[in-house]
Amino acid sequence: MSEGILLPKVARGTLLPEAARLARLQEALPQIKAAVAGETDAVAVEATLACLLWDTLSQANWCGFYRRVGDRMLAVGPYQGGMGCLRIPYERGVCGACARTGETQRVPDVHAFPGHIACDGATRSELVLPLRIAGVVVGVLDLDSPHLDGFSEAEARILEELLIRAFAQVATV
Ligand code: SME
Repeated sequence: MSEGILLPKVARGTLLPEAARLARLQEALPQIKAAVAGETDAVAVEATLACLLWDTLSQANWCGFYRRVGDRMLAVGPYQGGMGCLRIPYERGVCGACARTGETQRVPDVHAFPGHIACDGATRSELVLPLRIAGVVVGVLDLDSPHLDGFSEAEARILEELLIRAFAQVATV
């Protein structure tokens, strides 16, 4: 049986200093990559990443995927945290902006982002990364935090690389 990720326990909602967050992420990365290595099923990879990134990113109050369904529409996928919005059009929110542009959206203050969708009123910052398969955006990884500036540029770059690695064997969603 899997034991999940081996990391020191940190209380949910804790925003560690950036250096400590990066150290924690670096400790978790090999474990996360090993957990999904060789997996070809998109939902299996998404669910495992949602679970293990939730354990790693103590500053998050939501961690999960939105998948492209139909024309310019996202639907919620595997996640951890409180109930998320079920659907997000490409024209709306931080997730929509990421799906539309294919670019990572790091939003240190969601109140300063026009069109932010408040699924959870406690959310203060957000990081949304594009998920590509064969070069096409097929969804996004959405990370929310109740802290302002809860995710750094360095965390964004590391997570972008993790997504590429984790979905390398996945051909379709
Ligand atoms: N805040 C996001 C919506 C998703 S939820 O917060 C889980 C957005 O603006 O796209």
